[in-house]
Amino acid sequence: MRVILLGPPGAGKGTQAVRIAEAFGIPHISTGDIFRENVRGETKLGGEAKRYMDAGELVPDEVVVGMVADRLAQADAVDGFCLDGFPRTVPQAQALEDLLVDRDAPLEVVVRFLVDHDEVVQRLTGRRSCVDCGAVFHAEHAPPKDEGVCDKCGGELVQRDDDTEDVVLNRLDVYRKQTEPLEHFYWERGLLRDVEAVGEVDNVTERALGLLREYAS
Ligand code: AP5
Ligand code: MG
Repeated sequence: MRVILLGPPGAGKGTQAVRIAEAFGIPHISTGDIFRENVRGETKLGGEAKRYMDAGELVPDEVVVGMVADRLAQADAVDGFCLDGFPRTVPQAQALEDLLVDRDAPLEVVVRFLVDHDEVVQRLTGRRSCVDCGAVFHAEHAPPKDEGVCDKCGGELVQRDDDTEDVVLNRLDVYRKQTEPLEHFYWERGLLRDVEAVGEVDNVTERALGLLREYAS
């Protein structure tokens, strides 16, 4: 299964990608997570990405495309992947298409998560993320058992630097301008499918898995 999850910040891409990856035995590849790991590890890539991320702007295409090409070349991604947060611009989508043509393994489906603006602002400002394993919670919708402590690994839960209201609003603006054109790009190729991404997390998962089973070989 070769799938992309498309949708605005806060649509639930990361939350659902973990479940989709597990259901189909494919790697979950989140460019945002890779950047955050690099920021934590204080690598050169992390240093370069951080100033864009903190402002809610996109990291330049050439940086992201090279990083994803390396990741997709790893053995676990040969038979499939669930991409979360990539591509985010038309040049990134074009680069991915070229890469997959070369591998003779085209994309099978692009799932667009539908959710409205007010809901995503509310989700993102309430999000809490684990500093150690990256697991995602929400202060009200998906609280951890013990406040401030990750259920999965016991790590500390914090608010992401880019989840403050002003940066969230800029990220949504950047999404509208730079990422929304991908909807047309994939619609033209007959790959775009919609999932209603509001309501209980489990119900969204059921809808997404139901759709993706049509593509599972
Ligand atoms: P990235 O990490 O990809 O952030 P994003 O796209 O802004 O998406 P989010 O992670 O904020 O949202 P999500 O859809 O994953 O939602 P989640 O499941 O967490 O990118 C960060 C930055 O890195 C970018 O701004 C950019 O600088 C850089 N970057 C990354 N990729 C790049 C690229 N390709 N090109 C250039 N730059 C790039 O859920 C959100 C919250 O809602 C959580 O608290 C969750 O618990 C809650 N929630 C989830 N589902 C539900 C539900 N059904 N009901 C209620 N609450 C829910
Ligand atoms: Mg995410």
